[in-house]
Amino acid sequence: MRLENKVAIVTGAATGIGRAIATRFAHEGASVVVDYVGPEGTAADVEKEISSFGGKSVAIGADVSKPDHVQTLIDGAVKAFGKLDIVVNNAGIEKKFAFVDYPFEELQKILAVNLMGPFLVSQAAGRQMIQQGQGGRIINISSVHEDLPMPTNAAYCASKGGLRMLTRTIAVELAKYNITVNNIGPGAVYTPIDADIEAKPELEKALMAEIPLNRWGKPEEIASLAVFLASDEAAYITGSTYFIDGGMLRQSGSY
Ligand code: BGC
Repeated sequence: MRLENKVAIVTGAATGIGRAIATRFAHEGASVVVDYVGPEGTAADVEKEISSFGGKSVAIGADVSKPDHVQTLIDGAVKAFGKLDIVVNNAGIEKKFAFVDYPFEELQKILAVNLMGPFLVSQAAGRQMIQQGQGGRIINISSVHEDLPMPTNAAYCASKGGLRMLTRTIAVELAKYNITVNNIGPGAVYTPIDADIEAKPELEKALMAEIPLNRWGKPEEIASLAVFLASDEAAYITGSTYFIDGGMLRQSGSY
C-alpha cells in the first residue's frame, strides 16, 4: 500500500474522476474525505464502496467556492482523522456557449468552482499542513484545456489556464514547507461531465478522431497517476502538469 497512514481530501468525489481517486486512495491505505455538493446519496455510495474493502472514509458536504464551506471541510478532515496530508482539487464544472453569448452567471459559476475553489482549498489546506510541519501534497485536476483552446468553452479553458499558473505560483511559495503542488491534465475521460458527447455517436466519433490512442480515458487511469503524485516516490516533483490524454495534445487535426 502506497498511501498508508495518510489523510486525503478529494473534492467532487461523489462521481467521475473524483470517485475513482477517492476509492483508489482508500485501497492504497489512505483515510479519505469524500467531498460532495448537493444531496449526499452518491457520496454515501462511495463511502459504502470504500468500507466494503475495509477502507476508511467520511463524506462531507462542502461547496469549494465558499470560504466558510472550505474551512468546514479542512476542519472536518482533521476532526475525523487527526491531520491532513493530501488534497486533490478535483471538483469541476463545464458549460459550453459561443463566446459572444456566454452568460455572465455561468462564467462566474465556472470560475468560482474550477479556479477559486482550488485557490481556497489549497490555501486552507496549506495553512493546516504548515502548522503540522510534515509537508504535504496538493494535486489539481486540470485538463488538456489548460493549454489547448476549445471553441465554445472559453470559461472552462480560462479556469484551467488559471489553474496552471495557480499551481506554478503556489508550488514555489509552498516549497519551503515541503508541500508539493502539481496538476494532472486529463483529456477525454468517460465521466458524467461529457454526458452530452457520450449520448451522441457522431460527436463521440469526432472526439475520438482527435485522440491518437482512439478511445476514452478511464477514471481509474487518472487515479493511478494521482496515487503516484501523492506517494513518497513523487517527493521531488513540484510545479508541473502531467497530461494523460491518449496523445490528444500532440495531434494536429485529423487526416
Ligand atoms: C473536458 C471534456 C473534453 C475533454 C477533451 C475535458 O477537460 O471536460 O469536455 O471532452 O477535456 O477535450
